[in-house]
Amino acid sequence: MSNTSAPAQTPLTELAAWKALEAHYKSISTAHLRDLFKNDPERGTRLTAEADGIFLDYSKHRITDETIQLLLQLAEESGLKSRIDAMFSGEKINITENRAVLHVALRAPKGEKIVVDGEDVVPEVHTVLDRMAAFSDRVRSGEWKGYTGKAIKNIVNIGIGGSDLGPVMAYEALKHYSQRDLTFRFVSNIDGTDFVEATRDLDPEETLFIIASKTFTTLETMTNAHSARVWALAKLKHEAAIAKHFVAVSTAEKEVTKFGIDTANMFGFWDWVGGRYSMDSAIGLSTMLAIGPDNFRKLLAGFHAMDEHFRTAPLEKNLPALMGLLTVWYTDFFNAQTVAVLPYDQYLKRFPAYLQQLTMESNGKHVTLSGKHVNYETGPIFWGEPGTNGQHSFYQLIHQGTKLIPCDFIGFSKTLNPLGNHHDLLMANVFAQAEALAFGKTAEEVKAEGTADWLVPHRVFEGNRPSNTILVPELTPEALGKLVALYEHSVFTQGVIWQINSFDQWGVELGKVLAKNIGHELEGAEKVTSHDSSTNNLINLYKKQRG
Ligand code: F6P
Repeated sequence: MSNTSAPAQTPLTELAAWKALEAHYKSISTAHLRDLFKNDPERGTRLTAEADGIFLDYSKHRITDETIQLLLQLAEESGLKSRIDAMFSGEKINITENRAVLHVALRAPKGEKIVVDGEDVVPEVHTVLDRMAAFSDRVRSGEWKGYTGKAIKNIVNIGIGGSDLGPVMAYEALKHYSQRDLTFRFVSNIDGTDFVEATRDLDPEETLFIIASKTFTTLETMTNAHSARVWALAKLKHEAAIAKHFVAVSTAEKEVTKFGIDTANMFGFWDWVGGRYSMDSAIGLSTMLAIGPDNFRKLLAGFHAMDEHFRTAPLEKNLPALMGLLTVWYTDFFNAQTVAVLPYDQYLKRFPAYLQQLTMESNGKHVTLSGKHVNYETGPIFWGEPGTNGQHSFYQLIHQGTKLIPCDFIGFSKTLNPLGNHHDLLMANVFAQAEALAFGKTAEEVKAEGTADWLVPHRVFEGNRPSNTILVPELTPEALGKLVALYEHSVFTQGVIWQINSFDQWGVELGKVLAKNIGHELEGAEKVTSHDSSTNNLINLYKKQRG
């Protein structure tokens, strides 16, 4: 049977704009940012865009006005606008799972209407938010008591992937706004060390576990949840204690009940929320517990502001669209393999890890919506570390290595922790790094400093290394919402251009199935022979060594 849900599309490489970009690339690939800036003094103020306080400088890219025009034409020929409308109106654009893609509904204000399968989903979203808020208030105020009557002091979120990375990232990012007498821990890895270290100094009487899993079947989360139950009951003794110390966040009511959590203590969400797009659903319960319902609503308002910008702003002023198109430009024409995300804010230390799932689980795809193998590159590898730490480790390669690595610098004009001149020094590094990467240092400049001839090549910076600089007034809950939505929609833009499904993740399945089978084989002592010679040998060596 043929796939009738895939939109009829002209293959990407046959689009007029694509062909024009190929020709254009030839003329621009050797142009240097030094010349582009010298010949166009307004470039640094012109090639910028702003949405609700999020300022994007994209002037330090290897582009001209013509590049942007052609990329915008590509977006148009790819139907980006109508794909945006399809997503926002609840069409089932995740065709391989037959699901709508509606993380934008999670932050839609009361009164908006988004219909899926004949039902407006916005009221349900707010019902869950209100329940989360009531619960959070009770825990934060100490009114919610553990089984032995003690107030909750520790909150442990057990989840993995989207049920962990968003919560951890948001907790770290918004720690400044968090209730400091509550301790938050996040357990994700099936490696028992994660659970043991996260709970070793906690008292079960004062600890609340959030079991966060969309499906409530994920091996890691279920294994950790069972260990948590054993850990809690070892001290609390009575099954009845579970109701006071365990809550669930899931779409799977049946599975939650099977685990023994009362559905009165369950916060739901829906199959139209992808795991990696779920930090603003009930999966954000730990975030709400940390920062409080009001701040959580501000976070949602930030997401919504960026959603509206993406939905309504013309593409030439549309931050997520521009960022997405520039990623396509480097990935497909310059053959850049990675993007470095470099937040200059310690609170954003987990932001690159969060973005890795968002970007790579979304766009790490090799077939189009209609199932054809792509004949172009798709999702690049995202990676990064907060500045300035990265400068003293991998920036050498970005400056002088042989690979082209587009960078996203993210900085804030005001710090949440004023301390002497730390913040100016931090931000000086943002501006300096982007400048150094773009303009470099010529051999003449190096020589003029009196450098010995033999040393000159080693000290030359070729420059012409592209970057975005994203400047935000302050790291508030709203700002974090805007930043995350900016990347979500940039990822969407890329996926539309590449004609792939950014919302499924079949690529994680095979390993899961094989691990389950091997898990059974590890149970006994007998020699394993069912695999290839390498896998058999490794399994058997492991069995021998573990005893
Ligand atoms: O890694 C695959 C994945 O399905 C992710 O997409 C998801 O975020 C994660 O596992 C966790 O899934 P769940 O929330 O169902 O436990």
